[in-house]
Amino acid sequence: MQVTGDLLELRKIRASMAGTFGLVPTMGALHEGHASLIRRAGAECDHVGVSVFVNPSQFGPGEDLGKYPRRIGPDLEMLERLGVAAVFTPAVQGMYPDGYQTWIAVEDITIPLEGKCRPGHFRGVATIVAKLFNAFRPDRAYFGQKDAQQAAVIRRMILDLNFPVEPVVCPTVREADGLAMSSRNAYLDPRERKAAAVLYRALAAARERYQKGEREGNTLRAVMRAVLDSEPLARPEYVSAAHPDTLREVRTIETGAGVLISLAVKIGETRLIDNMIL
Ligand code: PAJ
Repeated sequence: MQVTGDLLELRKIRASMAGTFGLVPTMGALHEGHASLIRRAGAECDHVGVSVFVNPSQFGPGEDLGKYPRRIGPDLEMLERLGVAAVFTPAVQGMYPDGYQTWIAVEDITIPLEGKCRPGHFRGVATIVAKLFNAFRPDRAYFGQKDAQQAAVIRRMILDLNFPVEPVVCPTVREADGLAMSSRNAYLDPRERKAAAVLYRALAAARERYQKGEREGNTLRAVMRAVLDSEPLARPEYVSAAHPDTLREVRTIETGAGVLISLAVKIGETRLIDNMIL
């Protein structure tokens, strides 16, 4: 496994690799969710590259950039075990040198949901992912369904800017009680950790109603809110039932269209998100 924080060195490493290349961008503090993306990339590509970079431009003022978990030692051990060929660990100065002023703004689909709660977030995400595409020149790039809007934004950017990259979206990996794995779960104390399972229970309740034939967006949103309201530690930021492509809230779900149900909830000081496509 070759590890570098230097862009020119990464290019040399990459140029030495023949065959197909799969990229898994991450912010580190790796868990089984990340591992599932890396295994999928390994099954589908000749070589796998992983970036580990806590990207400051996707954090808003007052968000958790400063305390975001950084554990490069254990991360590299895990990446080695997973058979990763190339790891890119740039410094902030390397990605955003003095005078940096170029940003990618994906428009409509970044307006609702996470975009509304976290202004500027997707501008940071789209920009760093485009820079990582330029650094690695991957054939495929792997993302988690856990961050559904992020996956939709990147797919849109790939189409609009003609990146020669095939995006692959992988299923959400969950803990035994349904909590979606996340680097931010490390912030939860034991009481909060137990309460956090309410996100999954809310989604599962809406899924059950959908499977029984419910097609009204308002009803699905109300079902999720009712479950969240039963958990005193949970403070919902949004509860959504939206069109899976446009991310606009749905009134009545059209046959064949499906629906993305998603939520953002604060448990104590920790902000968690989760979703399902029905
Ligand atoms: P990060 O939160 O580290 O996630 C890296 C990738 O792992 C993302 O595509 C995310 O959706 C996926 N992932 C996280 N938890 C998952 C889970 N429980 N199951 C399946 N996949 C999961 O997302 C980012 O970093 C950043 O925004 C990034 C794309 C790297 C740009 O900075």
